Amino acid sequence: MTAPNPRKILVTSALPYANGSIHMGHMLEYIQTDIWVRFQKARGNECYYVCADDAHGTAIMLRAEKEGITAEEQIARVKAEHEADFADFQVAFDNFHSTHSEENRQFSEEIYKACRDKGHIAVRSIKQLYDPVKELFLADRYIKGECPKCGAADQYGDNCEVCGATYTPAELKNPYSVISGATPVEKESEHYFFKLPDFQEFLKDWTRSGTLQDEVANKLQEWLDSGLQEWDISRDAPYFGFEIPDAPGKYFYVWLDAPIGYMASFKNLCEKRGNIDFAEFWKKDSTAELYHFIGKDIINFHALFWPAMLSAADYRTPTAVNAHGFVTVNGAKMSKSRGTFIKARTYLNHLNPTYLRYYFAAKLGSSVDDFDLNLEDFVQKVNSDLVNKLVNIASRTANFVFKAGGTLTNECAEPDMLADFINAGDVIAEHYEKREFGRAMKEIMALADRANEYIQEKAPWAMNKEEGREQEVQDVCSVAINLFRQLITYLSPVLPEIAEKTAEFLNLESLSWEARREPLLGHSINKFKPMLPRAEMDKVSAILEETKGELEKEAGKAPDGKKDEKPAAKKDDKKSKKNKGPALREDGNEVIADTIEFPDFAKVDLRIARIVKADHVEGADKLLQLTLDIGNGETRNVFSGIKAAYNPEDLGGKLTVMVANLAPRQMKFGLSEGMVLAAGPGGSDIFLLEPHDGAQPGMRVM
Ligand code: MSP
Ligand code: ZN
Repeated sequence: MTAPNPRKILVTSALPYANGSIHMGHMLEYIQTDIWVRFQKARGNECYYVCADDAHGTAIMLRAEKEGITAEEQIARVKAEHEADFADFQVAFDNFHSTHSEENRQFSEEIYKACRDKGHIAVRSIKQLYDPVKELFLADRYIKGECPKCGAADQYGDNCEVCGATYTPAELKNPYSVISGATPVEKESEHYFFKLPDFQEFLKDWTRSGTLQDEVANKLQEWLDSGLQEWDISRDAPYFGFEIPDAPGKYFYVWLDAPIGYMASFKNLCEKRGNIDFAEFWKKDSTAELYHFIGKDIINFHALFWPAMLSAADYRTPTAVNAHGFVTVNGAKMSKSRGTFIKARTYLNHLNPTYLRYYFAAKLGSSVDDFDLNLEDFVQKVNSDLVNKLVNIASRTANFVFKAGGTLTNECAEPDMLADFINAGDVIAEHYEKREFGRAMKEIMALADRANEYIQEKAPWAMNKEEGREQEVQDVCSVAINLFRQLITYLSPVLPEIAEKTAEFLNLESLSWEARREPLLGHSINKFKPMLPRAEMDKVSAILEETKGELEKEAGKAPDGKKDEKPAAKKDDKKSKKNKGPALREDGNEVIADTIEFPDFAKVDLRIARIVKADHVEGADKLLQLTLDIGNGETRNVFSGIKAAYNPEDLGGKLTVMVANLAPRQMKFGLSEGMVLAAGPGGSDIFLLEPHDGAQPGMRVM
């Protein structure tokens, strides 16, 4: 079934640079977009998702040179790698193209000429630093030197990592080219500029017309108020890109043709499929919808230059630009030396992509806030929601139906509950539509809780042992399987692999949103097969180790100038030795049955600590902040999830036991330097261990 009036929707994610691997930060964006697209498709809308590699620019040219191959070979290699990464994360583009394509050359020339012919292009000479050995103009990031303010050596051309000063490359003392080491010279050349100020009024309206998140529109307002600048869209040869029409030796700056790559990829899709009308999606006043999903670092390109260029060339402008924040891992910027600069492939070498898709969905909203991938929380959350709650519904009940012939009952024994589940689909759909995936997941998991309570209460496994209750067992299990089908329908945009397995198990062709209204009655099902193993913390540790190994392999290679991949600061290395990554759980929810050897136990430094002070933490519902005296005048700051069980006033002066050598962890509220030991199921039933009075702070616990 399709929706009565299917919408026509074109969706894009930002085009990844063709000079580096896809990592966890990228994956947030592609998974977010993929979920939204799959949702639109499940709803019966005509939706296309296109992307491409962003193949142009100096970085790619230099990278190819370093590898001793042509730029074309370089981008073909990376494209194959990117496509495999995306496919394995179940990111299902309708088309993945390249900005180095004929379609893109044509659109870039066409849009540029339209701008030029309407007088929106200016040409003038500018002075820039030039590498006389390499014979190349140097972008800021290819120039290093001494900071003009504090004198620190080896600082980049735009800002000092030591004192934080910002400056222009010309201000650096003793500058040198990162590429050849030569001293740069100033050189003049002609550049082409897009006259963005011509679009001041247009952009004032456009940015306030519901196309942007409020926080983004407010930020852009500041720029618009302070006046827009002309945008330099040309680069001198040698440059890997498209030559500017009627301007020999001048190339389009990579950011000019990158967004045009969205059109080019879609055009290429139209050509491949033969039944999609390109113009219907891109003509001025098109009623089709166009959405760009991007990271917050590239907003100006998408919300200023891009709509201005499109409108100058008489194309439609985006319906909305959806920006997301940056991924941090365990509360800190992804870092190679900490092993948290995790590549998509490294993750895939150890863990199932379903986990990450779910974790991203569970914590994503529609804002531009940064996203913390907390690795312990990640493992805990996917196990508790997906394995314990969700899949459990089917795995506890399917077999009773299958053994009795494999046909669900002809009538639903709990029609009201099933109706509630079906109706919930409307609210859940609204959350998805607004990119409030976290809210959608919450609703779905609340339904899953209800399903589990029902199964627990009816306990079909117990009934099954009593004679004469066979029908009841079938009734209960058929209800459970119908509920499971609803839940998986709602989760199918997030968990496509589980949805596929469920469709097979339930003998269904698809799990479209509308089809859910038809309960499965008298319907035959297949044998249930396990759907998802538990996520394991040691796999996470293996990812961190492998990532650190990559850093060692790369050591000695020159930086390739990519912004995300600035060589990891040396100052990190010391920290990384101490911080071996999360190896201990803190929630106590999961039973760890594995035995450990004594030397492993001996590594844990357990000490008597005195609680000097306990405080509420503003904004935290579960945490108390403890100041612990661990002897020898040393104090520690520890956040502990015991708020439901203790009043801070009652804790002062008490003795307890702490893990003193747990790697410090950056939490939202501050740095936690260890953990205290407590027992109990959790919530208000948790008991801090209180050693005998003879113990003194600092004593080792054995
Ligand atoms: N090539 C440009 C985009 C051109 S779009 C016409 C580019 N490429 S990128 O590879 O650096 O980034 C691709 C996307 O991934 C961007 O939207 C960027 O914001 C996003 N991310 C890259 N690192 C990220 C994180 N650490 N966290 C979240 N998103 C990040 O920019
Ligand atoms: Zn400095």
